[in-house]
Amino acid sequence: MNTVLVGLQWGDEGKGKIIDYLCRNVDVVVRFQGGNNAGHTVIANQKKFVFHLIPSGILHKDKICVIGQGVVVDPEVLLNEIKILKKAGVSVSSKNLKISNFSHIIMPYHRIIDSLREQKRVQKIGTTKRGIGPCYKDRVSRCGIRMGDFIDKKSFAFKLKDNLREKNPIFKDAYQQKGFKFSSVYNKYSKLAKKIKPFVCDTTEYFYKKQDKKFLFEGAQGTFLDIDAGTYPFVTSSSVVASNALLGSGLPFVNLKKRVGVAKAYTTRVGEGPFPTELKGKILDYLQDEGGEYGATTGRPRRCGWLDLALLKRAIKVNSINRLIITKLDVLGNLAKIKVCLKYKKNGKIVKNFPYSLEKIKPVYKEFKGWNKDISKIKNFSRLPKEAKNYLNFIEKYLKVPISFISVGKDREEILKKRRGEN
Ligand code: IMP
Repeated sequence: MNTVLVGLQWGDEGKGKIIDYLCRNVDVVVRFQGGNNAGHTVIANQKKFVFHLIPSGILHKDKICVIGQGVVVDPEVLLNEIKILKKAGVSVSSKNLKISNFSHIIMPYHRIIDSLREQKRVQKIGTTKRGIGPCYKDRVSRCGIRMGDFIDKKSFAFKLKDNLREKNPIFKDAYQQKGFKFSSVYNKYSKLAKKIKPFVCDTTEYFYKKQDKKFLFEGAQGTFLDIDAGTYPFVTSSSVVASNALLGSGLPFVNLKKRVGVAKAYTTRVGEGPFPTELKGKILDYLQDEGGEYGATTGRPRRCGWLDLALLKRAIKVNSINRLIITKLDVLGNLAKIKVCLKYKKNGKIVKNFPYSLEKIKPVYKEFKGWNKDISKIKNFSRLPKEAKNYLNFIEKYLKVPISFISVGKDREEILKKRRGEN
């Protein structure tokens, strides 16, 4: 069965560990959007791996990992990731890593423009400054440099010159910055291209031959960072939702029967934008410390809040989710009381449908008793404290989607099945 996995909140739901777990049952793992704004963490054999571009399935020897056409690739980051993996003894070759020739390249001018634009704008997004937005902007403006051009010396030189002809005056006039010299960018980047070339292929043709295989599509970021479905403009620049899995991977039609949504047992957000259940003070400090809520990519402290079921209900609709995975349940372990948002209020009145904007929205909470216990070593759902089971059963009932797994610790083994037979 093919599976697509997406985050149901604002990213950082702990998807890396879940991908690592679910990929035991598939042949091919595919990233279909985003770039190195993502940071998927897996702790395997006491080693911590943070993946920004390569699907975390690479840790499994027999899996093929694909970076699809919807991904934006920073060549330096990619090569560094390969280097770190190889150093840790993980095999990475053109046999188990395929990169679409249609994916777009993040160039140094994208990264710089990302920062400069943030400095200049009144309405800041709080981007990761990795050049994601400017690269996607070039893609739709039809001046982007694709992987296929990047690995072809002549085509790369032509496209780079053309871009600098347009971009250098913008750097100078709009931002009073120097701009880029063709020869220095070309010399540095063509060396990187040479190293990446063996991994590049026409991934659609590759998929076509592998249609009988089982695929797992790995979403990055989260539903409310989606360029359309998210809290615009405080979003990322790609389609994060499950329906983009096929387009963003360039795969011929396959049936996505299993649509898995991952949600943290509470909520976090990095960067600007509305956040109805956001917490301040002692509970925020507790969640940040206990949950290690600091960005895997930028190190920024994450904003934290209670679990928002009104938000998850919407995410389930948007992605047509039929399985839920709850992560970081252990983090709530020392709290006497836990709150969950069921509905929203605006100007004192209950909001019936999901609001167009989350600005000025107030949460309506239900309170749960905490369980005051370390649950990370529990191996069976039935052994969880009754308060934790209550919490999970309520979420399942309210959202009308079964929970398949619950992550109760950082390690790849610290995960529970809610029901027997789930895989
Ligand atoms: P960008 O994707 O760097 O343009 O950032 C746009 C918004 O998405 C900012 O609020 C970022 O903090 C957020 N963002 C991007 N990628 C991630 C992620 O992987 N996890 C959490 N937030 C992210």
